[in-house]
Order: sequence, then structure tokens, then C-alpha cells
Amino acid sequence: MKGVILAGGLGTRLHPLTRVTNKHLLPVYDRPMIHYPIQCLLNAGIDEILIVTGGEHAGDFLKLLGNGKHLGVKELQYTYQEGEGGIADALKLAEDFAEDGKICVVLGDNIIEGNIRRAVADFFAQPSGAKLLLKEVPDPQRFGVPRLDGGHIAEILEKPADPPTSLAVTGIYLYDRDVFSIAETLKPSDRGELEITDVNNAYIERGDLTYDVLQGWWTDAGTVESLYRATRLVAEGGANKADVGMQSSAGGENTDAAASA
Ligand code: G1P
Repeated sequence: MKGVILAGGLGTRLHPLTRVTNKHLLPVYDRPMIHYPIQCLLNAGIDEILIVTGGEHAGDFLKLLGNGKHLGVKELQYTYQEGEGGIADALKLAEDFAEDGKICVVLGDNIIEGNIRRAVADFFAQPSGAKLLLKEVPDPQRFGVPRLDGGHIAEILEKPADPPTSLAVTGIYLYDRDVFSIAETLKPSDRGELEITDVNNAYIERGDLTYDVLQGWWTDAGTVESLYRATRLVAEGGANKADVGMQSSAGGENTDAAASA
């Protein structure tokens, strides 16, 4: 399976920090933010990675990461998103890279305490569709939130004022090749973007979406508060640990870091 890191956007919620650099190059404790999603993919056995970036500072990713060999990346590719079309628009640029295979997509400002090896292995065995990773949070109205019906996700609501659960849809998504044809059917949302939540709802309509719940902490780092929180969590305990795993949607716990992808 290949990995795609979405690292574009203007990072306006972090102004003035992002006036002279891309959000994903800002420090989170002792490393640039982009190192964390790269490590997350590497820990799941995914070492062919595409970085989708954009804006005025895209060249700085090449300066920082080069060919990625020093980080353990086997093949690092880059592409450039014109304009501000949203997460699902950025994802369209990964179609050729994916070569009709399954992909693991990580938003570049998402950082986790544990690892996603088990979810990646399970999705590898899943015949088709998509898999999401959820996490209990105190402020679900900031995120995509699932409405659950029995053991299934009935619908995902993007930043609902009145969230039906306290679960957030994290920015780690597993998709089959159909994600690209689904992305072509999307219409811009009220904020003028193609929303990843609309992609996920399309998979729900097909009845082809599974989910797991992450163990350990998860945070985004796209606001001043969450960037501070991410820095504190990394400083206090570290991220991307091999021995913190998943809780499956069936309720079983798993900390098996050796699950093969
Ligand atoms: C995006 C998604 C949202 C998801 C979040 C995770 O939100 O739209 O569904 O929960 O990432 O970080 P954004 O941070 O772009 O507002």
C-alpha cells in the first residue's frame, strides 16, 4: 500500500506563524510537523509516499526532506495543488501515484501517539471500500463526526453544532481506487472546498466503509491551541509508538505492533 500526505493549505488559522512558511513545516517539539505523518506511515510499513503541497513555500519541503532516504522513505514524491480546493481536491492529484492500488491518506497536521499497523493490515485484507479511524475527543464540533447506527457509521457530519457522538473522524483515511472517481463527483461545500467528508459519505452510501478507534492520543495541529497541545503531548510522552495500537470497531483491543501490512 502507498501513502499520501496532504500538506497544502494556507494555514490561516495559524497566522501570523504561517505568513512566511507552510503550516506543516512549523516545529512540533523537536521536529517539523511533516515528520510525524511520515513516521506514522513508515511505522505501518508504508514507505512509498506522495506529499501533496501548495502555496508559496512548497519548495521548502524539498529542502527539508530531499529524497526522504535519511528518514527511511523508499520513494518520496511531491506534487503541487493549485489554489485552495480542499482536501478532496488535493487528493485527486494522487491518482497516477496510486496506480489503481489502495492508499493510506494522512492529513499533514495529524499526529498520533500510537501506530496504525493493525488498521492498515485489516484494510489490506478488506475486499474494497474505505476505512476510517475515529477518536474520542472533548470538542467534536471541530471535526467530522459520525452518527452511529448499531455497529455502523450511518453518516458523517462535518463540524456539526450539535454532535451526535463525542467521536472525531481523524485525518487518517484508507481508500480503494474508487476514491478518485468519487472525488470527481463532488460539489464544493459552503466554504468552497471539496470535502473529504463527502467522499466518506459516498462510501457509506455504498455500504462499503469500516472503522477502527485509535488507542492513545490523537491531535491535529492546525490552530494555535492544537499546535501547542501537540507540542506538549510529544514533549511529554512522544508520538508514533510501536506498542500503542488500535481498538477495532468490533470492540477488540489490539496492541500488536507486529501485524504485517
Ligand atoms: C478536516 C476534515 C475533518 C476531520 C479533520 C481531522 O478538517 O474536514 O472531517 O475531522 O480534518 O483533522 P479541517 O482541519 O480541514 O477543518
